[in-house]
Amino acid sequence: MPTIDGITVSPPDADVRIDPVSYFGSPGPVELEIGCGKGGFLLRRAREYSQLRLLGIEWANKYYRYAADRMARWGLTNVRIMRTDARNFVLHHLVPDCLAALHTYHPDPWPKKRHHKRRLFQPDFVAAATVALQPGGRWAIQTDHADYFAWITEVMAGQERLEPIDYEDEAFGIVDNQTQTNYEIKYLREGRHFYRLAFRKKG
Ligand SMILES: C[S@@+](CC[C@H](N)C(=O)[O-])C[C@H]1O[C@@H](n2cnc3c(N)ncnc32)[C@H](O)[C@@H]1O
Repeated sequence: MPTIDGITVSPPDADVRIDPVSYFGSPGPVELEIGCGKGGFLLRRAREYSQLRLLGIEWANKYYRYAADRMARWGLTNVRIMRTDARNFVLHHLVPDCLAALHTYHPDPWPKKRHHKRRLFQPDFVAAATVALQPGGRWAIQTDHADYFAWITEVMAGQERLEPIDYEDEAFGIVDNQTQTNYEIKYLREGRHFYRLAFRKKG
């Protein structure tokens, strides 16, 4: 059951697969943001697209609580936030074809070679996330880290069920390539370069 004014939800029990629409009060498209941080992107998207159901997953307790409090203060009813490891959630807890979109913005780059195994984008994660996307579902990715971008590009290329599409898409809400996550806003001020990819799951 949701808590913090109906915003936070608990991760499923071990070995349980769920359709995340069950976290919301009504059927309809569900989008997942992995590593939602302070929740800036989720907040803006939930306010602008009230027809969407948005689930944010965040591992860091501090940011998870911050984001949930923020959604509650705005009285949003179409956002849920879960504290869990998103890799485990995607690999073991989602049913197929349940996500209308997947948002992954500024995933932790783990720059040291000995830490590369901690990177979110690994072949098994990408395969599981692709299964969880609905046919026609969209996956948007942005990073400011050139080396991680090259890594992500290579891992994504192994997924035959995904076709590359334009990142910018007004109908999807991405205008002037701006996603407006907290990190994007901060890094834009610093003049950093962004690397972006978007994919559509083939029907
Ligand atoms: C660099 S921040 C980016 C936050 C946000 N996406 C943005 O663009 O402002 C990465 C976030 O992902 C979270 N994170 C990293 N690995 C995660 C995982 N396996 N599951 C859930 N959250 C994760 C971190 O705690 C952090 O808040």
